[in-house]
Amino acid sequence: MKEDITSIQTEALSAIESAESLQQLDDARVAFLGKKGSLTAISAGMRNLSKEEKPIIGELLNVARTAITDKIAEVKGKLETIADQKLIEGVDVSLPGRVLNEGNLHPMTLMRDRAIQILRRLGFSLAEGPEIETEFHCFDALNTPEDHPARNDGDTFYFDASEDGLRKLLRTHTSSVQVRTMESQKPPVRIISPGSAYRRDEIDATHLSVFTQLEGLFITEDVRLSDLKGTLEYFFQALFGEDTETRFRPHFFPFTEPSFEIDVKLKVKGQEDKWIEVAGCGMVDPAVLQQICNSREDDVFSPDKVTGFAFGMGIDRLAMIQWGIRDIRHLIDNDTRFLKQFA
Ligand code: DAH
Repeated sequence: MKEDITSIQTEALSAIESAESLQQLDDARVAFLGKKGSLTAISAGMRNLSKEEKPIIGELLNVARTAITDKIAEVKGKLETIADQKLIEGVDVSLPGRVLNEGNLHPMTLMRDRAIQILRRLGFSLAEGPEIETEFHCFDALNTPEDHPARNDGDTFYFDASEDGLRKLLRTHTSSVQVRTMESQKPPVRIISPGSAYRRDEIDATHLSVFTQLEGLFITEDVRLSDLKGTLEYFFQALFGEDTETRFRPHFFPFTEPSFEIDVKLKVKGQEDKWIEVAGCGMVDPAVLQQICNSREDDVFSPDKVTGFAFGMGIDRLAMIQWGIRDIRHLIDNDTRFLKQFA
């Protein structure tokens, strides 16, 4: 029996040593130590041994089992190391890792959000309107006559007339949201509405056919021109810095009377100061309020009861001023070399 044990041990150790895979190693373990393994079979014969022989053979069996178990662990470690090495074969671990590009907000988003934040502090809330508009909401209700140049086919994107003969269009300004808001809410109204506007402009460094405006409207009892001035002066100072100078230049818009264009003084080191137009504004024309009363069939917006101011600004223009962007097309090119600068 002693010899049997010794020879099984030798046989087992050499089988384990020569295993070339984890599977072969496990097969060897089963063959010697498994339920039907050869060493297990011998252990079963212990029963028939004499009292004197039992401890001696028992000791031998233990030594053999430990030797085999240790060997299996040792070879298993080696095989696993080889497997790991195979896995990374051909991988150059000295190469730099692949960097995941972190995204950042688009400058237009940054500018829009900042503008909204400032105006919210003044009590304005957000309003929305459709980009595909009726001529009524875009022009008629805003006191803009049929023959106004903005209504021209060459300046505006029109859709084909529908069966009822009405033509829809891509809104040329966000001022249509003024009308939609007054149709659906009662005074006091204090809203801003950022969004896209569309014009058939020749695209160049300062013009796009789609651009972003922010409309504002404040209507309640006794709103005055001084409220308009104060609000917009505060806005541009909060946006561009406390020492920002603004200028209100008389202008004409069909939907406001009086109307102004607002310029902001641009100060660039080493250059002469320059006034840049950033917005249009004015006191809501009584004709607009009257038109709203007609549509609503009530008089809550009657020019005898309420007054208000409105303004509209180009967010693209504000972004260009804020960051010294010389060409508006950068804002739609999606060139990451440009966009990364705003991270
Ligand atoms: N809608 C004008 C435009 O697109 C901008 C504007 C001017 C909006 C005066 C207004 C306003 O609300 O009162 O050029």
